[in-house]
Amino acid sequence: MTQRGRGGGVGSLPTPVEGGEVLIPREELARRVAELGREIGRDYAGQALHLVGVLKGAVTFLADLARQLPLPDVSIDYLAISSYGRSTETSGAVRFLKDLDEPIAGRHVLVVEDIVDTGLTLAYLRAQLAARQPASLAVAAMLDKPERRRVQVPVEYVGFVIPDRFVVGYGLDYAGRWRHLPDVVALPPDLVR
Ligand code: IMP
Ligand code: MG
Repeated sequence: MTQRGRGGGVGSLPTPVEGGEVLIPREELARRVAELGREIGRDYAGQALHLVGVLKGAVTFLADLARQLPLPDVSIDYLAISSYGRSTETSGAVRFLKDLDEPIAGRHVLVVEDIVDTGLTLAYLRAQLAARQPASLAVAAMLDKPERRRVQVPVEYVGFVIPDRFVVGYGLDYAGRWRHLPDVVALPPDLVR
């Protein structure tokens, strides 16, 4: 039995979002992550790279990206910042829920994010982390929604630029659901707006 019709899932696993639309299938995600891994590997050749994952959304992307880095010296830490809760709009107020375990002074830091939307979260994060004086600071985001940007913030590595749709899957959630979906799925607009 296939559940394709229910959510547009591809491959063997269904995408059980009623009315959802697969925006980026898992094969494309894998191909792009491998490409980013090679690019980042070239840029950080000969250096130790410290990945900073932003919980919880970046976990899937980070796990895949880290395993595509052709670098001998990679470390990983995580932080968590306040999320939207049940809403899909940012409040603009951002705070740390969990700080890093390790200092980053003097290290080459690559922040790994799921998606950059208004840019408010990342602008805050960049300022906070830059103040700790890493040797370098850059950002890799799997998804970018430039139409919604409210503050300009540099994003050195972007997986995919997407339109102004609310997406779930590949680590991204709506009210805590659907992070486990292997594809990036756009929710039906009437569900989230
Ligand atoms: P920003 O501060 O508006 O850039 O928001 C960034 C954060 O909002 C991301 O790290 C996500 O946690 C969340 N977010 C923004 N857009 C989406 C989306 O389409 N789906 C799921 N989460 C989103
Ligand atoms: Mg996030």
